[in-house]
Amino acid sequence: MELKEAILNRRSIRKFQDRDVSQTQVEELLKLASWAPSANNYQMWFFYAVHSKEVKEKISSAIEKKLQEILSWPEVEPLKERLAGLKRYAQYTREAPWLIVFCLEETRSSFEELLIKKGLDRERLERWRPHAGLQSVSAAIQNFLLAAHAEGLGTVWMVGPLFAVEEMESILGVPSGRRIVALVPLGYPAESPAPKLRKAPEDTWKFIL
Ligand SMILES: Cc1cc2nc3c(=O)[nH]c(=O)nc-3n(C[C@H](O)[C@H](O)[C@H](O)COP(=O)(O)O)c2cc1C
Repeated sequence: MELKEAILNRRSIRKFQDRDVSQTQVEELLKLASWAPSANNYQMWFFYAVHSKEVKEKISSAIEKKLQEILSWPEVEPLKERLAGLKRYAQYTREAPWLIVFCLEETRSSFEELLIKKGLDRERLERWRPHAGLQSVSAAIQNFLLAAHAEGLGTVWMVGPLFAVEEMESILGVPSGRRIVALVPLGYPAESPAPKLRKAPEDTWKFIL
């Protein structure tokens, strides 16, 4: 598949066939994810590839349970109906044959250490080094999504279910210093959604010639 075609035709897939994907295939996709660029080439990502039905079920139940708790907050009342729809996340994590959990290993470059030593406040530090780690993991996620699509597989990049991140980190035994930043269910697509509209390109750029 041409790269341009893969970029244009990839869609977020939220319904999956009851058809398995081999571990070898997932390993191949994760290897391609790890060829993403990363700040200082620190490769500050870590991937949990979950196939175990039991673990996926634990994660899905944790999402449902936490959502129930959130829905009981009085502050949620105006958003209750909309938020109740988020229980569908548990369906994606349960039904896809694989759930890939993308993590960020918290690292600091020697330049960042120096800036901290120099007493640069958090806000300036963030402006000078805007989420370099998260940008790197995001590049790996996008590689993964495109590589999966090129193999006829479907994915959806999700941060919504991270309201249950503490529970998921405990289920997976994620050590301190490593943070879950996204979940990506993976499987053969059971839907072919229409493309979502994009902004007019000229509204998203400015050429300075
Ligand atoms: C950082 C990020 C977080 C996202 N989180 C969710 C999510 O929690 N749930 C969901 O259904 N889709 C999520 N998406 C998918 C977007 O809704 C989707 O990419 C967008 O609507 C465009 O559709 P397309 O991917 O089919 O082109 C997320 C995408 C990104 C990049």
